[in-house]
Amino acid sequence: MTQERDATRMHDKSRTTAQRGSRRYARLLVTGGAGFIGSCFVRDVLGRRDGTHITVLDKLTYAGNRSNLAPVEADPEQAARLRFVVGDIADPEIVEPLVAEADAVVNFAAESHVDRSILEPVDFLRTDVLGVHVLLEACRKEQARARAGGRAATPRMLQVSTDEVYGSVETGESVEDDRLEPRSPYSAAKAAGELLVRSYFITYGLDVVVTRGSNTYGPYHYPEKLIPLFVTNAIDDQQLPLYGDGRQRRDWLYVADHAGAIGHVLEHAGAGETYNIPGGNERANREVVATLLELLGKPWSLVRSVEDRPGHDWRYAMTGDKLAALGWKNKMSFEVGLAATVDWYLANQGWWRPIKSGEWEEYYRRQYATRLAGSRDAG
Ligand code: NAD
Ligand code: TYD
Repeated sequence: MTQERDATRMHDKSRTTAQRGSRRYARLLVTGGAGFIGSCFVRDVLGRRDGTHITVLDKLTYAGNRSNLAPVEADPEQAARLRFVVGDIADPEIVEPLVAEADAVVNFAAESHVDRSILEPVDFLRTDVLGVHVLLEACRKEQARARAGGRAATPRMLQVSTDEVYGSVETGESVEDDRLEPRSPYSAAKAAGELLVRSYFITYGLDVVVTRGSNTYGPYHYPEKLIPLFVTNAIDDQQLPLYGDGRQRRDWLYVADHAGAIGHVLEHAGAGETYNIPGGNERANREVVATLLELLGKPWSLVRSVEDRPGHDWRYAMTGDKLAALGWKNKMSFEVGLAATVDWYLANQGWWRPIKSGEWEEYYRRQYATRLAGSRDAG
């Protein structure tokens, strides 16, 4: 076990830099800032009105939506501190000049849905692994420039990762030093991205940090994941495809808490450190679905038990002791957060109805048509 822990621990140098003081970054490059969590981070940081400037780099894949930033674009003071660039993190020509202007890079950009990674893994490797490598190389160029006196400091890079890199956790809670045992193409690609980040700390001494967040929920969540899919289907009295017996367990984290914790780690963590961001709300999928149906006043009979996801991770759970010691505490309770999320989807049908058409319909058919045709009563 000691050996396993040592194998996944970053270089010893991280121990000496772990307790550094806090630092504000005036110019941020936020990749994937038009997605679910990235856009929350951008809205919240600009909403602080502390002068921070943000450049968003986003490829606007099916999951990226510029209107997720509409609230800041409608506010002249915040809009003046936001620049939006459409582009791919795997393209060095776009990435390098943007990193050259940044004090820190926060990488949210990813292919993020497990079911899509099972259908078509290749985009996950391109963005979640090769894209991360391009960002790291751009930071390394800036490190060389800083060492030559061409800029004040090397940009810090924060890699947004996931609890899924630990794999399925049958009992107990994952600690940051635990072995990575990803089991889906998505989590394997995220683990590979993280390991590259770690290697750039060890090999080149790059200023990097990693966060591993748990299952996140809240407004602006693309309706392919459990909570927004089931809420929007239930609003329309559509069937809810619960995988297997629905007893799998996830730890739910409200999106503003996830984004806030990332900002806290960015500003306070030592170079080379990794932080879990748990939600502290472990629930079986069935419990989550029952609660959201209750909030919507819809019947359980909408729920159908469908063929399970291949390789379905049974449970994720992490300890948040290290993050708590850094001074972070989540603010949102699951009950209040879920109610606010359901209200948001009821009030913002103009946001999600257009999304549930075109490419989405094709994906939905591919993922669920056969499953729903062979579905059973969910008990
Ligand atoms: P999302 O799918 O909603 O958004 C991803 C964003 O990245 C989109 O705006 C998309 O257009 C953009 N993007 C994709 N490929 C790109 C590329 N090659 N270049 C530039 N932009 C690209 O994802 P999310 O749920 O907001 O997740 C954000 C990050 O958090 C991801 O790295 C994910 O792995 C991680 N994470 C998510 C959760 C969760 O529950 N949603 C939990 C833990 C960690
Ligand atoms: P998801 O939101 O896809 O997140 P992740 O797989 O990254 O944890 O799924 C959350 C849980 O809900 C997971 O156990 C799979 C389950 N699930 C269903 O039962 N039906 C569905 O249609 C989806 C999308 C997920």
